[in-house]
Amino acid sequence: MLSAEQNRALTEVGAGTPMGELLRRYWMPIAAVAELDDRPTKPVRLMGEDLVLYKDQAGNYGLVDRHCPHRRADLSYGYPDGCGLRCHYHGWLWDHTGRCLQQPFEETAHPDAKFKDRVRIKAYPVEAKAGLLWAYLGPPPVPLVPTWEPFTWQNGFVQIVFSQVPCNWFQCQENSIDPVHFEWLHSNWSRALSGADGQRSPTHLKVGFEEFEYGFTYRRILEGQSEQDELWTVGRCCLWPNCLFTGGHFEWRVPIDDGNMLSVGWFFDRVPNEMEPYRQERIPYWVSPIKDDLTGRWITSHVMNQDFVAWVGQGTVADRTQEHLGESDRGVIMMRRRILEDAERVAKGEVPKGVIRDPEKNRIVRLPIIGRDFFVNGSSKVESETSRQRTPGLPLRREFPFLVGQPEEVRAEYCRAMGLPEPGVDARSAAG
Ligand code: FES
Ligand SMILES: [Fe+2]
Repeated sequence: MLSAEQNRALTEVGAGTPMGELLRRYWMPIAAVAELDDRPTKPVRLMGEDLVLYKDQAGNYGLVDRHCPHRRADLSYGYPDGCGLRCHYHGWLWDHTGRCLQQPFEETAHPDAKFKDRVRIKAYPVEAKAGLLWAYLGPPPVPLVPTWEPFTWQNGFVQIVFSQVPCNWFQCQENSIDPVHFEWLHSNWSRALSGADGQRSPTHLKVGFEEFEYGFTYRRILEGQSEQDELWTVGRCCLWPNCLFTGGHFEWRVPIDDGNMLSVGWFFDRVPNEMEPYRQERIPYWVSPIKDDLTGRWITSHVMNQDFVAWVGQGTVADRTQEHLGESDRGVIMMRRRILEDAERVAKGEVPKGVIRDPEKNRIVRLPIIGRDFFVNGSSKVESETSRQRTPGLPLRREFPFLVGQPEEVRAEYCRAMGLPEPGVDARSAAG
């Protein structure tokens, strides 16, 4: 059980708070590259700061204050013009470093006054990687955006999925080190929801947690499995400071503010060997709803939606003064302790866990990965359909199991990449 003060320390994300300062030492994914190609500005709220993300006509990405420093117009309605973002109200032009490039009427009225050199807009660095746009809100020196190993994999179909979840980010991240929930929240609850009674899913016999350079791993042995299984020998990753990595996908829990979280999912599906070489021209993105509009209830049908139901159910900010932690929460306790220590480290001016600055090291940052060989080398279609059912995430799936509402065109693209019959196409004619 934590004190109210510890709970606050874990959950507040504003600038100047311990956790807010810690989180500002890491790059946060905030949008998809393809999103800005579709629409060049996007309002972004990140760690309590209202900002605008944009792409200018020279291809620079900028992340600037939501409000124009002139008379505070909302710059998400501004438009890219040359090397900057032009305010729609009086035409002042800002660049991605925060400089004012033009003030049309001021320059006409007082050509020598150089007023524009005396105003700046708050601006943060943005970088594109793995189909995502990343933002860094912290102080210099700016670290590198990690090149996690899966970002370098070939022959995969990648998709990015966003969901906005109305609760604090940290209870979501606690789920990244919670092996036992899988058995109940996903397996057994899904069975109960579908009306299946009787048999339960295999139960957890043993769990283990280990710290490594970029986070923690959690390991499990389920009924019917042994210490030789990769779920025990490798495990899954609670990636520092706000991500779950399962091997085939990442889930970032990006703090919007103290009471809201942007879930950013990055999903890799290896194409069967028969479909190689496969090159993805554009990584698609979509937004998944979390509420059923008809009933006003949370959606429970997909894996991550079930997670969301658990997290929002804990309250906007979980009250950790009221919990009763047990053996299954050992990882949660380890992570809380570690992250509070890290926040203290930052307060002392030290570098926290997992910050990458060495370009050589960042060429490929290896992680514990269940089924690495499959992701790297793939397998034949038949093999993927038959031999990989045991480990969640690996079978050649027809339906997207993680989030509700995958658009038809993304599903069609996925099917084409995987050599599966496209939605609406008769399986026999496709096979012929
Ligand atoms: S408010 Fe932006 S130019 Fe006037
Ligand atoms: Fe889950």
